[in-house]
Amino acid sequence: MEKLIWHTMMSVDGYIAGRDDDMDWVFGVDRGSGETVAEVLRSTGALLVGRRTQDVEDRLQPGFYGGAFSGPFFVLSHDPPAEAPVVKGVTGRFLDVGIEEAVGIAREAAGGRDVVVLGANIARQCIEARLLDEIIIHVAPVLVGGGIRLFERPDGDPARLIPTASIEEGETTVLRYSVPR
Ligand SMILES: NC(=O)c1ccc[n+]([C@@H]2O[C@H](COP(=O)([O-])OP(=O)(O)OC[C@H]3O[C@@H](n4cnc5c(N)ncnc54)[C@H](OP(=O)(O)O)[C@@H]3O)[C@@H](O)[C@H]2O)c1
Repeated sequence: MEKLIWHTMMSVDGYIAGRDDDMDWVFGVDRGSGETVAEVLRSTGALLVGRRTQDVEDRLQPGFYGGAFSGPFFVLSHDPPAEAPVVKGVTGRFLDVGIEEAVGIAREAAGGRDVVVLGANIARQCIEARLLDEIIIHVAPVLVGGGIRLFERPDGDPARLIPTASIEEGETTVLRYSVPR
């Protein structure tokens, strides 16, 4: 079956975004061949995006995958604006539904291909609902010092992962894990 994948870059000290959603540390990191990103782009049919990630996208406007992804995307928000989200000319859809329903909608739009999750908050919900299949982390050689952690759940049990790959790509180390259900 097609997979639900959380794909993210992370600093060595475990942040996916710096303070005030700073993402400058991501730009300029040498990703080498970029083979993992290319593979994800080939297999992905839709994106499920957290509202905070979308807000940063609106501000910085790099486009998803730097504009390389132009398929359907869905943005989860409890307070969706009247206007649909638009990224690089592609119109997405705001959703105000539970995580299971959101994943179902994205899967349908993906047409038998994978769905990629963007944003730590919604990725955590996918893990807790036992919906996530795989985590792909590009570890960037940066110490960010504060911001949004990869996984923030102070009161929950640890979530055990199964390592499947560790690959050097340029300055980054790509770590892949499958998530037991
Ligand atoms: N390093 C990377 O590769 C990478 C990748 C992606 C994102 N980021 C960064 O990560 C940061 C955002 O991550 P995040 O974890 O803080 O937030 P997020 O997952 O992007 O978004 C969380 C927001 O989504 C909405 N939401 C979540 N679950 C919902 C549900 N079930 N129903 C309706 N709405 C729901 C809520 O927004 P409302 O308040 O609107 O309800 C919530 O505040 C940004 O700075 C972004 O740039 C980094």
